[in-house]
Amino acid sequence: MDLENIPNHVGIIMDGNGRWAKKRGLNRSLGHKKGAETLEKLLNHIYDLGIKYVSIYAFSTENFKRDPKEVNYLMDLFVKMFSSKKKIFVKNELKVLFSGRRDNLRDDVRKSLENLEDSTKDFSRGVLNICLNYGGRSEIVDMTKKIAQDVIDGKLKIDDIDEKLVNHYMYQDLPDIDFVIRTSGEMRISNFMLWQSSYAEYFFPKTLFPDFTEEEFNKAILEYQNRNRRFGG
Ligand code: FPP
Repeated sequence: MDLENIPNHVGIIMDGNGRWAKKRGLNRSLGHKKGAETLEKLLNHIYDLGIKYVSIYAFSTENFKRDPKEVNYLMDLFVKMFSSKKKIFVKNELKVLFSGRRDNLRDDVRKSLENLEDSTKDFSRGVLNICLNYGGRSEIVDMTKKIAQDVIDGKLKIDDIDEKLVNHYMYQDLPDIDFVIRTSGEMRISNFMLWQSSYAEYFFPKTLFPDFTEEEFNKAILEYQNRNRRFGG
């Protein structure tokens, strides 16, 4: 693969875990478990390619509408993964960031995430931004409130507000997303990183997320490399 023209920041909407399980007559939760295994292999591969930033959609604000059993299973899975995989993040010098509303998250989920953020904050080989209890519109609302408050407090002037400053007030100050992959064939953005993906290329492979292997990812990168990005010019 040509590693010259790889994206700097990739967004992944991990869709299709439920359908993967249903096809096999399994409980949806087992699809999420398999999805978590796929994610681990995929991240390993992605950072080895030299891609620096990855944002993953782990749980949207809307996902709270699902059956509480499934929501709880996912929250337990997150807590388990965040604590058991900490060593791997540290060993690979990967910085973990969390994007989403922290206040109404289950306590143990927030604590395990913040612990992971804290333990990896000095690393820079790669960055994993985990979108959890995340919504792109909520992020814009929350950014607006923070800016308004700083204007009221006299820390900011209206004329200071530009795109760079807005980016700084988002959940995380990240570079633009170059490439968004949504698995399972659904062709929607579903409120994922709206501000950061303004100029992204999108790719919608039909593969369900648990089956999204490193080879499938390489095919997606080839697709990206064949696109002609003009940035409106
Ligand atoms: C979408 O599939 C997937 C999710 C809502 C959860 C994603 C979670 C994981 C892959 C687990 C691992 C993540 C971390 C951060 C440890 P779906 O349930 O919408 O599938 P469906 O559309 O087929 O029903």
